[in-house]
Amino acid sequence: MSHRTTALVTGGAGLIGSHIVDQALAAGWDVRILDNLQRQTHRQGKPAWVPDAAKFVHGDVRNRRDWERALDGVDVVFHEAAYGGYMPEIAKFIDANGVGTALLLETIRDRRLPVRKVVVASSQAVYNEGAYACPEHGPFYGTSRAIGRLERGDYEVHCPVCDAVAAAVPTDEGAPTGGENTYAISKMIQERLVLAWGKATGVPAVALRYSCTYGPRQSLFNPYTGVIAIFCTRLVNGLPPVVYEDGRQSRDLVYVEDVARANMVVAEDDRANGRVYNVGTGQAAAIGDLARLLAGRLGTPLEPEFPGEFRPGEMRALISDNRRIAELGWAPRTGLDEGIGRYLDWVREQGEIAEYFGAAERILRRRQVVRRAEAAKGMLAAGNRT
Ligand SMILES: NC(=O)c1ccc[n+]([C@@H]2O[C@H](COP(=O)([O-])OP(=O)(O)OC[C@H]3O[C@@H](n4cnc5c(N)ncnc54)[C@H](O)[C@@H]3O)[C@@H](O)[C@H]2O)c1
Ligand SMILES: [Zn+2]
Repeated sequence: MSHRTTALVTGGAGLIGSHIVDQALAAGWDVRILDNLQRQTHRQGKPAWVPDAAKFVHGDVRNRRDWERALDGVDVVFHEAAYGGYMPEIAKFIDANGVGTALLLETIRDRRLPVRKVVVASSQAVYNEGAYACPEHGPFYGTSRAIGRLERGDYEVHCPVCDAVAAAVPTDEGAPTGGENTYAISKMIQERLVLAWGKATGVPAVALRYSCTYGPRQSLFNPYTGVIAIFCTRLVNGLPPVVYEDGRQSRDLVYVEDVARANMVVAEDDRANGRVYNVGTGQAAAIGDLARLLAGRLGTPLEPEFPGEFRPGEMRALISDNRRIAELGWAPRTGLDEGIGRYLDWVREQGEIAEYFGAAERILRRRQVVRRAEAAKGMLAAGNRT
C-alpha cells in the first residue's frame, strides 16, 4: 500500500473499540474514533484512555452528518458502536444498531468513498440457542427455551427427541440464527446489512460474532452489560452478586485484547472477506462459579444470590467454536485466570466505584425483561429468601 492506512473505529471510547484503537495505532495506522460517549457507559465523560494520537470525532451513528465527518479518507471501518444489553427499549436498539449501520453504508455509497473494508461487531447473541448434544441422540441445535418451562424453574435445554437434559457443545457459524431478544435482533440486522451490502457492492465486509467480552475499560457504570463488571461493582460495594437461573448457565468469556486482535487479523486478511467468524475461547464458565471466583479474588466472603429469576430470550449456554478464525492464524492468548487478574488490577485503580445494578434491576422487573420463576415466587411467599 502506498499510503498509511486510516482506520475509523466507531465506539472507539468503549471496551472493545478502545483496544482496537490501541492495536491499530501500534500497527502504525492513522486512527479516527466516532463515539457519542453514551452517558450510561461513560458517566464521567470522555475516558482518559482515549489516546491523543487518535482523532476523536464526538458524534452519533444515528446522524448522517457525523458519518460524513468521520468517514472522509478512511480505508478500514471497525463498526463497534452499539446500544447493548438487556433493556426495555425496542426502537432505540433498532435505531442505534440498525439505522446507524444503514447510514454507514449509505454514506459510503452516496459519497463514493474508497473504503476498502468494513468489519462489523456482531454477537454470539444471534444464535437463538447454541449447539447441544443428547447423551442418547447426539448433536442438535437448540431452540429458544419455552417461557412456561423457565417459569417452572426448568432452565435446561432438552433433547427434541427424548426430552433428556442436553449438554452444550461448541457452536459453529453454521448454527441457526435470528435473535430471540431485541438486542440480538438488532445485531442480526447489523450483520446481515453489512454482509449483504458488501456482497452487492464488492466492498470487502466481515462480521465478527464475539462471545462474552471482558477486560480493562469495561464500563463500571453501565448496569446492563458485562456480567464480570456487574458482579465486581456489587462485590466491591459489599453486595452479593445476583445470579439469574440456577447459576449453571454458562458463557464463553473472551479477553478484550484477543477480540481486538481478531479485528486486526480479519482487516488484513483477504480470506476473511464476505465471511462471518466466531470470536471466543472454546471454553465455557458457569456463571455461578464465576460469581464465586470473583468474590474469592476480591477477598470478600459474599456468597452469590440466586433469586430464581430469568430473562426471556436469553440463551442457556454458548461455547464458541473458533476453528474458522483459527484458519486465519488467530487464537486466544489470555486465559480466564490471567484475564480476570488483569481486569481486577484495573478495577482497583478506578477509585470510588458506585453500584447501579440494584436500581436498574427494579426497572427491568417492572418491564418484565427480568422474570421470576413460579417456584421461586412460592419460596419468596414462604419467606425463604435469605
Ligand atoms: N462486550 C461484549 O461482551 C460483546 C459481546 C458481543 C458483541 N459485542 C459488540 O461489540 C461492540 C462493542 O461493545 P463494547 O463491549 O465495547 O461496548 P461499550 O459499551 O464498551 O462500547 C460501545 C461504545 O459505543 C459508543 N456508542 C454507543 N452508542 C453510540 C451511538 N449511537 N453513536 C456513537 N457511539 C455510540 C459508546 O459511547 C461506547 O463508547 C458492540 O457492537 C457490541 O454489540 C460486545
Ligand atoms: Zn435424546
